[in-house]
Amino acid sequence: MKIAVVGTGYVGLVTGTCFAETGNQVTCIDIDTNKVARLQKGEIPIYEPGLDVLFERNIAEGRLDFTTNLTEGIKGAEVIFLALPTPPGEDGSADLKYILGVANDLGPILEQYAVIVDKSTVPVGTAEKVQAAIARNANVEFDVVSNPEFLREGVAIEDFMKPDRVVIGTTSERAQKVMEKLYAPLVRQGNPVIFMDERSAEMTKYAANSFLAMKITFMNEIANLCERVGANVDDIRKGIGTDSRIGKRFLFAGIGYGGSCFPKDVQALAKTSTEYGYDFRTLEAVMAVNEDQKTRLIPTLTDHFDGNLRGLTIAVWGLAFKPNTDDIREAPALENIKALLALGARVTAYDPEAMNNVAKLIPEITYCHTPYAALDEADALMIFTEWPQFRTPDFEKMGKLMNNKVIFDGRNLYDLSVIKETGFAYYSIGRDSINAEELV
Ligand code: UDX
Repeated sequence: MKIAVVGTGYVGLVTGTCFAETGNQVTCIDIDTNKVARLQKGEIPIYEPGLDVLFERNIAEGRLDFTTNLTEGIKGAEVIFLALPTPPGEDGSADLKYILGVANDLGPILEQYAVIVDKSTVPVGTAEKVQAAIARNANVEFDVVSNPEFLREGVAIEDFMKPDRVVIGTTSERAQKVMEKLYAPLVRQGNPVIFMDERSAEMTKYAANSFLAMKITFMNEIANLCERVGANVDDIRKGIGTDSRIGKRFLFAGIGYGGSCFPKDVQALAKTSTEYGYDFRTLEAVMAVNEDQKTRLIPTLTDHFDGNLRGLTIAVWGLAFKPNTDDIREAPALENIKALLALGARVTAYDPEAMNNVAKLIPEITYCHTPYAALDEADALMIFTEWPQFRTPDFEKMGKLMNNKVIFDGRNLYDLSVIKETGFAYYSIGRDSINAEELV
């Protein structure tokens, strides 16, 4: 099939590249001339494991190309994906100006029947707005379909190629057939393509992300309570996660969720609820708890140093909102670093991928080339992202480099039994602190 993807952000690039990989002819379109020039040269502007191989192969084999020209890019396309940003407006609702802008442009240039697919996460009712914007100037038949994506950064290629499910919102049989054909190679193993109406598909995306954000947040509150009652959140996670009604995943307590999706989508669903006169109390609680959770270790750190961080050097491991990405949107590390600086601490930091991105926002800290370099003369280590390379560090080497052997772990990376042997003082989330008394 011939496919066009409008918008070469994270979702657009993964969608375009993966559909090229399944044999389609894909043109990606973006108004950013610099970005398109880089893509045409074979450069990928984002870090996503596995994307480079597929990207290079499909360009080399002539199934994937890039243009800034919408009219040329959509010529002959049976399916046109809209993968455009929907940033939160000042009131928290998703801003549709990019999507509706492209929808307006599409009307007069469509030359034959096409399925226009909303791939971005958009509020309920957007498919109807896109339909109306295109219809105003269109001379041919078309359908607008809602097809939300459930990609996780870091494993997006796998999520795309082997989706748990594909959700497609359309009431048109013609569009349904086109979408079935397009997705057939991805659901051979029998995972379902679920058809529903447009509004339900739009709502499904918000419900999925809000539910997962709530699941994490609930666990974070259980962890906070565990600390008070003297229970261990690791055991609680195993104890409840094995119940198939609950499920093992997304039960890891820590310093809160971040990223480009959960915070934005929870906020947008809360906003939609308000607009429709419904007080969605669970969502309000999720947002408030997550905000507090992000900097939960700061008071613990300050207490450890008798209320004064002035002049101390705090080493930070992990800046990205999660491992295997350079994405720092809503990353808990940012708020923590700002809090540390405000309290008069000096900060040294290491992250395998995200340092350049943070340096643009927070130039006043020291960025180091290795995790150990960040520890040199540090008074404490704080961990904000669970990169695999932090999981089995050389504690002896760490102890020698640091002024104090103390770790504040926002991602519960280490078993308490392992830490006990190292002589480090250790604070994590939802578990007893280790060796803390002796060192204060
Ligand atoms: C998420 C959804 O998973 C995906 O389906 C959707 O399309 C986009 O949003 P992503 O933001 O890439 O994907 O990351 P994800 O792996 O879901 O993690 C989100 C956040 O939750 C991260 O900050 C992560 O650290 C946190 N998290 C996740 C926890 O704190 N505990 C967990 O158990 C799981």
